[in-house]
Amino acid sequence: MKILTVVGARPQFVKAAVVSRNMALQDGIQEFILHSGQHYDDNMSAIFFEEMRIPTPHFNLNINGGHHGEMTGKMMAGIEQKILEIKPDALLVYGDTNSTLAGALAAAKLHVPVIHVEAGLRSFNMRMPEEINRILTDRISQILFCPTTRAVENLQREGFDLLDNRVELVGDVMQDAALFYAADAASMAKVFHTLELETGSFLLVTCHRAENTNDPERFGQILQALNELAERQTIIFPVHPRTRQLFKTQSIHSNLKLIDPVGYFDMILLLKNCQLVITDSGGLQKEAYFFQKHCITMRDETEWVELVDGGYNVICGADARRILTAFEQFQTAQFKPGADLYGGGQAGERIVSFLMDWL
Ligand code: UD1
Repeated sequence: MKILTVVGARPQFVKAAVVSRNMALQDGIQEFILHSGQHYDDNMSAIFFEEMRIPTPHFNLNINGGHHGEMTGKMMAGIEQKILEIKPDALLVYGDTNSTLAGALAAAKLHVPVIHVEAGLRSFNMRMPEEINRILTDRISQILFCPTTRAVENLQREGFDLLDNRVELVGDVMQDAALFYAADAASMAKVFHTLELETGSFLLVTCHRAENTNDPERFGQILQALNELAERQTIIFPVHPRTRQLFKTQSIHSNLKLIDPVGYFDMILLLKNCQLVITDSGGLQKEAYFFQKHCITMRDETEWVELVDGGYNVICGADARRILTAFEQFQTAQFKPGADLYGGGQAGERIVSFLMDWL
């Protein structure tokens, strides 16, 4: 079976590391990797391929920047060409980015079955480009691999039981990655040491969502909360290029420790050693849980509701007061590891074994 995998943005490299490694173990699967080029800086892309030993992409479309329509349209055209060239038996996409939607649309129009890893997640916020991408991708996929029971339920509520496709609960490939690379990270990560950080002495922060960075009121609230916290505690903030641009153009000054985006190994060590996580990232909310850290989420909703239900994550919007209150509450709270919410690290194996049977 020939599978064409489309990746393009940072979180997809982490997920592809897991699934591609499992596919390589099977003689029956030949994988071609196509990088859309959406993320292109070395520390947003190349470092993940190197550290996580992901096979070098067969193709790179080098498409990035521009508005959503332009980016997605150009990617669709490029992916379509490669589908016609390779004639894959299926096309595999991850998550909810513009690269995901472009791959799924190009394949579906050519009647190539679409496999969606991380299907069924919903924020119920249609103003997020990611929500639009994931709903449309799910609808045109033949095989939907869900990371959580809630994701399966979301699809059932949307009537997927009536459609001609397969919805499979496999767990979250990001948990596989966290478990598989933890030992490498411990010996190879650098940033934690070069910054001379001490375990439990710092907060780990990321912020890159368009809903926060493109809205001065929201970003102002976030900065206010972080600056207040920085008076009491070191804040380590690996800055996404979009957010970096904002700091530069608005000449924003802060006492946060702003560092360049870090690779996966460095992120793992920072996660293992921080006091807690403050973020608007989807992936980091779960990684905090994998490394037994509480998380304050600077969004109005989350796709990972089981973490909120379990008391591990608090949704604070872009509201300085709520962020500070959540911090106070978590400061005295003990992290109590709970149920296995994400499949226990076998999602990659389950996905590939399903695909082998589906052949
Ligand atoms: C994308 C995804 C989002 C995911 C995130 C992970 C969509 C709609 N959004 O958002 O779901 O959580 O990736 O990071 O697909 N840039 C650089 N260097 C890079 C990458 C980006 O300078 O290596 C710049 C881009 O040119 C652009 C900005 O950063 O100006 C934002 O990048 P973009 O790919 O549009 O979306 P993300 O915010 O990264």
